[in-house]
Amino acid sequence: MSMRKKLEHLEALGREAELGGGEERIDTQQGKGKLLARQRVALLLDEDSFVEMDRFVTHRSTDETLADKKILGDGVVTGYGTIHGRLVYVFSQDFTVFGGSLSEAHAEKIVKLQDMALKNGAPLIGLTDSGGARIQEGVASLGGYADIFLRNTLASGVIPQISVILGPCAGGAVYSPAITDFVYMVRGTSYMFVTGPGVLKTVTHEDIDMEGLGGADVHASKSGVAHFASDSEPECLAAVRSLMAYLPQNNTEVPQSRPTDDPSDRKDEKLLEVVPDNSSKPYDMHDVIGAVVDDREFYEVHEAFARNLIVGFAHVGGHAVGIVANQPAVLAGALDIDSSVKGARFVRFCDAFNIPLIVFEDVPGFLPGVGQEHGGIIRHGAKLLYAFAEATVPKITVIIRKAYGGAYDVMSSKHIRGDVNLAWPTAEIAVMGPEGAVEVLFRKDLDAAEDSEVATEARIEEYRTQFAHPYIAAARGYIDDVIDPRTTRPRLINALEMLRNKRDENPRKKHGNLPL
Ligand code: HXC
Repeated sequence: MSMRKKLEHLEALGREAELGGGEERIDTQQGKGKLLARQRVALLLDEDSFVEMDRFVTHRSTDETLADKKILGDGVVTGYGTIHGRLVYVFSQDFTVFGGSLSEAHAEKIVKLQDMALKNGAPLIGLTDSGGARIQEGVASLGGYADIFLRNTLASGVIPQISVILGPCAGGAVYSPAITDFVYMVRGTSYMFVTGPGVLKTVTHEDIDMEGLGGADVHASKSGVAHFASDSEPECLAAVRSLMAYLPQNNTEVPQSRPTDDPSDRKDEKLLEVVPDNSSKPYDMHDVIGAVVDDREFYEVHEAFARNLIVGFAHVGGHAVGIVANQPAVLAGALDIDSSVKGARFVRFCDAFNIPLIVFEDVPGFLPGVGQEHGGIIRHGAKLLYAFAEATVPKITVIIRKAYGGAYDVMSSKHIRGDVNLAWPTAEIAVMGPEGAVEVLFRKDLDAAEDSEVATEARIEEYRTQFAHPYIAAARGYIDDVIDPRTTRPRLINALEMLRNKRDENPRKKHGNLPL
């Protein structure tokens, strides 16, 4: 056969691979408002940067329903390309091919990509749209999943791993995204659950639809399984692209800095107005974050989940940072189970990938309650403490208002290796708030007083003057400085630059025993 004929054959095979499960199934997919596997990759990556691998792979099943149905690519598009000019590996499951279900060969394609991403130190992004294990392949498919889970685990903390759920993701298949660093979902078209609505109905007699059980909003706000929920696939894929601007390629690199026109000596007068005079009044910590970061751009993670703690990425003076901030507008900023776990996971991600941490603190303590105690706030709260304590990246804390009790220690205090700890003049650093302290110390006297209310108020005022300020902590060096709130941005930039070459280590160990 001549070269020309061979080329024609190659091109025909290429067209066949592109067609996936065929016109009819492509129409069905698009009819559901979903994009095709390659369209998604094209939106995710820089234009024309995608290089596909393994488009001629087919399954090896001899099952009678499958043996004569071989589709090039076998339900997953794999390869590499760039985002903002930087290498990423990507796989994109094709629901038009056997429902994107995972066969042995399909799994091998993903595994190959995982191995390449790890070896070459670049992020891996998985676009999931799959009916799960390919039923006809039985245990070979289950083995394929396990091969993927193992590599997800080994790559954890070495390269960023991102999962984008763009269709069903059910049964054990959910555990690959669950191990990865960030999970994105799309409202109305993506679902994650271990056991679907049909089985629930017969087993637990619970009647719920797919969206209600495992849709984007449920996982982004209630379970915390998803970090992001979008209204459409293009919006979701654009959000993944934006995330990459804050991440390094792997754990041996630091994130690239991003030039900004936002002056590093910018002082913000509005910061004088954020904290109310009455210290029991709420305010929105986003106002502080927005006023301090470059160009007011904050990439919030887990925005709808455990809203009493804010976490996310920003650039400050061009440096990529992870921000962890108590949110006084929700539950008074108290730390509870969900916010502790959310914070701990974010802190560990930043530490693994050399992203400095900035903490804005206003925390009255851990949330009281039987539900919290019985739910294990002790071990969950310990996760956040552990995460901050073990982190060796630059750690800068600004105490905006309350830093009470154990929460003072936890929120990256100097005692657990916080590098630079600053306080606004509004900071209140004490074992507990004035009301609680007076109750513990003087209750009997106050009950016996002629006018209990007046006496209590007097004691509270006395306590406030004596303890509810930053100067006792500053006198001990627990706070490096008390600063004018307007100078927060310049002080943070200065500290980040001072800490740029920070070196710190943990004792050699196989791994720590995080209180899971
Ligand atoms: C083989 C599958 C398949 C699967 C779907 N298909 N899931 N083929 N193995 N797991 C095929 C269908 O036969 C159909 O083929 C095509 O994909 C599209 O499926 P539909 O059912 O027509 O699509 P839809 O109505 O949109 O429903 C999608 C679905 C449903 C909800 C995902 O297909 C479904 O319930 N599938 C089974 C899900 C499941 O139980 N998977 C196992 C989970 S446990 P044709 O030829 O008609 O187009 C698991 C274990 C992981 O995954 C183990 C990890 C340890």
